[in-house]
Amino acid sequence: MPTVTIDKQVIECQKGDNLRNVLLDAGAPLYNGFAKQIHCRGLGTCGTCSIEIEGQVTPMTRVEKWRLSFPPHEIELGLRLACQCRVEGNLVLVKHSGMWGQRREVSES
Ligand code: FES
Repeated sequence: MPTVTIDKQVIECQKGDNLRNVLLDAGAPLYNGFAKQIHCRGLGTCGTCSIEIEGQVTPMTRVEKWRLSFPPHEIELGLRLACQCRVEGNLVLVKHSGMWGQRREVSES
């Protein structure tokens, strides 16, 4: 059974589960600020469920690739849309700041 770790919270789920649903069901922080009220409910069009993922999930969907290709996202930053990902193995997640979760804090190391 895969685990999803975010902010020291460890969530167990099934392989193939939708990552957005896993996080929301566990009360984990997926949306920032105003995005908690206004988002596309998993259609892949708003971009506010973006998250940094370490671990294996399903390949990027067409709509995910499209949404991450324009501001405030930059596809080169490697974020994923939780609503478009299915869990394939153990994951470690980082939710970045900004309404779209687009800001990647600069490491001081
Ligand atoms: S919830 Fe809108 S893109 Fe994922």
